Amino acid sequence: MSTPHIDAGPGAIADTVLLPGDPLRARHIADTFLDGAVEVNACRNMLGYTGRYRGMRVSVMGSGMGIPSCAIYATELARVYGVRRIVRIGTCGGVGDVELGDLLLAQAASTDSHFNRLQFGGHDLAACADFALMRAVVDTAAAQGIGLRIGGVFSTDCFYGGDPDLTGRLLQHRILGVEMESAGLYGLALREGIQALSVLTVSDHLQRDAHMPAAQREQGLSRMVALVLDSLGAWAA
Ligand code: HPA
Repeated sequence: MSTPHIDAGPGAIADTVLLPGDPLRARHIADTFLDGAVEVNACRNMLGYTGRYRGMRVSVMGSGMGIPSCAIYATELARVYGVRRIVRIGTCGGVGDVELGDLLLAQAASTDSHFNRLQFGGHDLAACADFALMRAVVDTAAAQGIGLRIGGVFSTDCFYGGDPDLTGRLLQHRILGVEMESAGLYGLALREGIQALSVLTVSDHLQRDAHMPAAQREQGLSRMVALVLDSLGAWAA
């Protein structure tokens, strides 16, 4: 069993997959959070691991950057490996009153990508998160006293360039952050009949010359991963 991009064996990938963009982050998460983690994918160095978190079987794998890369992996995970839920864990640029280090749940994802339109007859798809996954993270964060921002994000195909008036448009539509994957992930999850959610740490800010220092970034990402893993455990139990 394999796909053009994943060479894991049958049953090697858990029903639930955490999907960071960076494959080395997947390895770090497996090393830090999972018991008995084994490498299940190294095709194209898009490292993937399966282990257990508090007894719950879970996988973590890189997705690469941008909707096309993320969608290749998420689609193959769903169609070929039977993955039922995918939680993207990533970073985003903040907009408006969002602060560096804030944790953001992407309730819905707008986009300048045509990925969903290509699959939806040119119409606009409301690319939204899975409600049960959102509720699990919201409830767990509340129980742990962790603050969350919940709202829209914008998934852009252009890290550089693109719409010069984008920031104003995002502010006008109460969008909280910019990243590059969620709209595609949410659209394909709806089509494939799987659950998806993006949980994002604000690593920089579109209107301020501000970036999270490396140490704070690491801490923020660990906090986000722990919250997601605790949420999935509580939800699956
Ligand atoms: N733009 C797109 N993707 C991002 C950004 C950004 O400003 N920050 C983190 N991921």
